[in-house]
Amino acid sequence: MEQQYIIKGGRPLAGEVTIGGAKNAALGILAAAIMSDETVTIDNLPDVRDINVLLNAIEDIGAIVDRVDRHTVRINGSTISSLVINSEFINKIRASYYLLGALLGKYKDAQVALPGGCDIGSRPIDQHIKGFEALGAKIVIEHGMIKASAQSLVGRHIYLDVVSVGATINIMLAAVLAEGKTIIENPAKEPHIVDVANFLNSMGANIKGAGTDVIRIVGVEKLSASEYSVIPDQIEAGTFMIAAAATKGDVLIKNVIPKHLEAISAKLIEIGAEVYEFDEAVRVSANRRLGHTQIKTQPYPGFPTDMQPQMATILAMGQGTSIVTENIFENRYKYVDELARMGASIKVEGNVAIIDGVSRFTGAAVSAPDLRAGAALVTAALVAEGFSTVDQIYYIERGYENFEGKLKALGADIEKVAVDDEKSMQKFKLRVG
Ligand code: EPZ
Repeated sequence: MEQQYIIKGGRPLAGEVTIGGAKNAALGILAAAIMSDETVTIDNLPDVRDINVLLNAIEDIGAIVDRVDRHTVRINGSTISSLVINSEFINKIRASYYLLGALLGKYKDAQVALPGGCDIGSRPIDQHIKGFEALGAKIVIEHGMIKASAQSLVGRHIYLDVVSVGATINIMLAAVLAEGKTIIENPAKEPHIVDVANFLNSMGANIKGAGTDVIRIVGVEKLSASEYSVIPDQIEAGTFMIAAAATKGDVLIKNVIPKHLEAISAKLIEIGAEVYEFDEAVRVSANRRLGHTQIKTQPYPGFPTDMQPQMATILAMGQGTSIVTENIFENRYKYVDELARMGASIKVEGNVAIIDGVSRFTGAAVSAPDLRAGAALVTAALVAEGFSTVDQIYYIERGYENFEGKLKALGADIEKVAVDDEKSMQKFKLRVG
């Protein structure tokens, strides 16, 4: 049964929210976990759809997946019996391609359905393939599957033409058990790259330089048991930071690494919000209408593309004209028409959005076009006068755990209801007035 959010805007968010584990780190880590034949325990896992799809795929090929609790899983890859990943939902998620790197690295053979994920651009995988081929693999794409195989994998010097999170992680996975030394130049430097490398090292891999401009990997014989806790999700944290400021609220966002949030904090401060950093928390507040700025999305440590829709939304309520340039994905403005229904004034030309801030948003029925854009539309609805509905929330549930529950705990008037469930909608409307 399809569900949607119904939201009444106008309440400032206040209180505390605890951020979960980073989805995009966890996806790489789960794939890496199957490379050991010993039991690996992973904690601080977000309970979101993309993670659950990947866990199902891992179980499908024969690995033991023991869900200890909502945020902890034990994986044992010694029982893997199939190297073909083609389960029902796997091609819906982007991270399915990490199983290619992991299985190729461990068994020198893998077949994975071509990846899907959010429709935010063409999303080629040429850099992944280039990396695997450099290590000695043969890659064939046929019948919707990528097939990778090798007699042996041998470490090489690989220069990435494009800074890619996925290719960097995939090449690390394929290289950790290869013979000799692999050097990845021009890698992505996102916190989740470092987290996947730290996890692999905790299993006995030898990776140096993750998070810098050069990653050096010396192949090891095997990977062993480990217990590991995933880093906090910087994008979930950033989303709550924006929601706090947009609603003129005051929120303490806990279980974060403030350094990972610097690009977001800097922009919020620039437009007039208050951001206080603590050891493992940030507090964001605003008590007036915010201003305008320019944003260009860049690989880390630049401003993250995954925060572009949320940031554009707060700028659309600000004073003055803002310019947003999307440099990573060409199709990440699909939420703009939806935001316009609420009153936003945004013109998109190529990869640039010109945003004329408006002083009020009004509630409307909108549809989430992808994960982060969905979160941005919810933020807009929290500010808009009157009632809004946001549908296609399964996109949001790919990457945010209990999004409505966390917002509700901060005072938001939001409810998840079945689409067309008029009775629940009426009940909500009566309750929030
Ligand atoms: C990861 O996608 C994330 N997904 C995305 O998060 C995120 O937006 C993106 O990195 C950028 O930070 C996961 O981690 C599962 P890329 P990925 O390879 O790895 C081009 C979210 O909302 N490119 O870093 O697919 C590509 O077209 C999602 O959580 C090539 O040209 O992104 C893009 O322009 C959405 N060839 C740029 O590089 C390649 O072989 C960066 O893509 C690979 C990528």
